[in-house]
Amino acid sequence: MKQPIGFFDSGVGGLSLLPAVSAILPNEDICYLADEAFSPYGDKTHKEILDRARAITLKLLSFDCKLIVLACNTATTQVINQLRKEFTVPFVGIEPAIKPAALTTQTGVVGVLATKGTLNSQLFHKSSLEHGSKIQLVEQIGTGLVACVESNKIDDPSTFTLLESFLNPMVDRGMDSLVLGCTHYPFLIPVIKKIIPQHVRIIDNSQAVAQQIKRRLTELDLCDTSNTTSLHTYFSSSSKSNLSRFVKHTINFLPL
Ligand code: DGL
Repeated sequence: MKQPIGFFDSGVGGLSLLPAVSAILPNEDICYLADEAFSPYGDKTHKEILDRARAITLKLLSFDCKLIVLACNTATTQVINQLRKEFTVPFVGIEPAIKPAALTTQTGVVGVLATKGTLNSQLFHKSSLEHGSKIQLVEQIGTGLVACVESNKIDDPSTFTLLESFLNPMVDRGMDSLVLGCTHYPFLIPVIKKIIPQHVRIIDNSQAVAQQIKRRLTELDLCDTSNTTSLHTYFSSSSKSNLSRFVKHTINFLPL
């Protein structure tokens, strides 16, 4: 019997990972759960996020998921270690891609745009010390950006203005690499590109996460070898879901 890979996020953000995952794991069934009733996670307490992550893990396990992807930087940096202690199912998470940015920056100035929950987490501090000690990290909380994506305001002038207020000071400080530390932000790339100079590289972790999912499935002998068409199913915790609108666009979207 086919077992799906479970994905969850506070909303539609985690969908930004799916093109990279489908590209290298085309046979795998996917079960995506958007916790839209509790979005955004970025300002929630550690306990609130842990409670949601536990409940969603149980839900995904009831769908027989063989591996669970925390398709959310905030949930990963806040609670993945605790989930790994409590559940036997394998988890894969996503964290801001500081390491590749630190390796390729020319100016030595790397910007990280992420939620408050991610930037304040112990895991992020550990990664910054490990990979960012020789460079200057310019951290910026993207307050309001998740709501811009969730409420379909990507092309709204107010989103442009908000992004400008975050990005221009980072550019002024010499940033040549911008790490997108929230899975909602890749949906904003067309707007971000209108604001930052061309030489600034936009870095996100979706390819690396897809590779990690494949590596874990292979190690655990859980890859789907059935050669049958994959089935993607989507669930939301909210009756006012944005998922269907986003799912339609995701496959052809995400111009990095
Ligand atoms: N997409 C999420 C992340 O990567 C969640 C952001 C939020 O809900 O605030 O952090």
